[in-house]
Amino acid sequence: MRMLIKGKTVLTGEVEISSSKNAILPILAASLLTDDKVEIRKVPNINDVVIITKLLDQLGTKTKHYRNTLMLSGESISTNPPYELVRQIRASVLIMGPLLARQGKVRVALPGGCAIGTRPIDLHLKGFHALGADITLHSGDLVAKANDLIGTHIYLDYPSVGATENIMMAASMAKGISYIENAALEPEVVDLANFINSMGGKVSGAGTNVIKIEGVKQLKGVKYTPIPDRIEAGTYMVAVAATGGDAIIKNVIPEHLKAITSKLIESGADVIEGEDNLQVRRESKIKPVYIKTLPYPGFPTDMQAQFMAYLSRSHGSSVVSESVFENRFMHVQELSRMGANIKTEGKTAIIRGVRKLTGAQVKASDLRAGAALVIAGLTAQGNTILQESQHVDRGYEKITSKLNAMGAQIEDE
Ligand code: UD1
Repeated sequence: MRMLIKGKTVLTGEVEISSSKNAILPILAASLLTDDKVEIRKVPNINDVVIITKLLDQLGTKTKHYRNTLMLSGESISTNPPYELVRQIRASVLIMGPLLARQGKVRVALPGGCAIGTRPIDLHLKGFHALGADITLHSGDLVAKANDLIGTHIYLDYPSVGATENIMMAASMAKGISYIENAALEPEVVDLANFINSMGGKVSGAGTNVIKIEGVKQLKGVKYTPIPDRIEAGTYMVAVAATGGDAIIKNVIPEHLKAITSKLIESGADVIEGEDNLQVRRESKIKPVYIKTLPYPGFPTDMQAQFMAYLSRSHGSSVVSESVFENRFMHVQELSRMGANIKTEGKTAIIRGVRKLTGAQVKASDLRAGAALVIAGLTAQGNTILQESQHVDRGYEKITSKLNAMGAQIEDE
């Protein structure tokens, strides 16, 4: 797929943010914890959700869509998800915890997903092992087995989002109490804990670095609406600022966007917080800023590429330091093709602001790199052709029509 982006458009008006991709993926995985009916509302129509839903379907969960509500019923499920689906999306590793909790066994191929760094899952496995699971490798498949999972203390060497979520799900039906120490603080972790609790689970402390999980025998059905997507919101905020626009970003939790808001203000944009919306506008020059990606509440790695596209046109030099992932500068080469002046050394990038970007033929290597190139294309002189734009649809619901409604001129091909 390709996107044709007309340059030099200015974003105005408003945009409504969808539910969080990174909240809904673990929540859908957690639906495997019960044989009751689960109803998820405001489900975004994005490819990652389509793939994980297919995965649940293949495992035996009955799935039904009614408008943007997804109904799931997993009365009888199997333990072997099909390889073709698992390798398409890294989040498929998140079905390990719930299947282990419910069935005492799971077998999965090593997962695929975004090509950013090596992204091991050692911390997930360390947690399962501490809870009493046996983990072995059988012809490229990971097999985890446990007659009983037993509550324990698990210290994470790094506050991994996925490991915290996976271990939380496994421990939710273990015997006794578990503690995850040095847990991830991300709002999506809190949303998963809220989801498990509304199913009758006993999770406390989510959002702090120690999460307590009291195992329960059974979890029940629930109706749930996930939180809004802070990365989608952040992407539109940066797009508005980059085009020198003025727009309202609706359906957000401003508290979740503090790191992004503060960097935008530092760069010369105005951000006015409402209760569940934000107004973003920029009239003055883009000032250079220093950004270091960190676990929440630090600056999110998932916003790094988009900010780089924005800062490419700043008046001065910015520094971006990526501390969460190895190898997450794939967008730099493509931004350079549009005239950006970016030098990288290891995990640091120096962006010398240029007067203008020029439309070019570029390629999306992953989801956020794709979003960055869309932003660059909106501000460039001339037209940009974004190849492999399907990566963008993995995480942004209706991005073309949302941007066009704000004044962009983008066509999907
Ligand atoms: C989640 C998000 C992703 C985001 C990332 C960091 C989902 C579906 N995806 O990914 O969009 O960029 O958080 O905010 O929620 N690590 C290990 N061993 C492990 C697990 C992780 O070394 O067992 C490392 C990773 O290689 C990486 C770092 O920890 O360098 C952070 O990864 P993690 O927080 O686990 O990210 P994900 O859950 O994969």
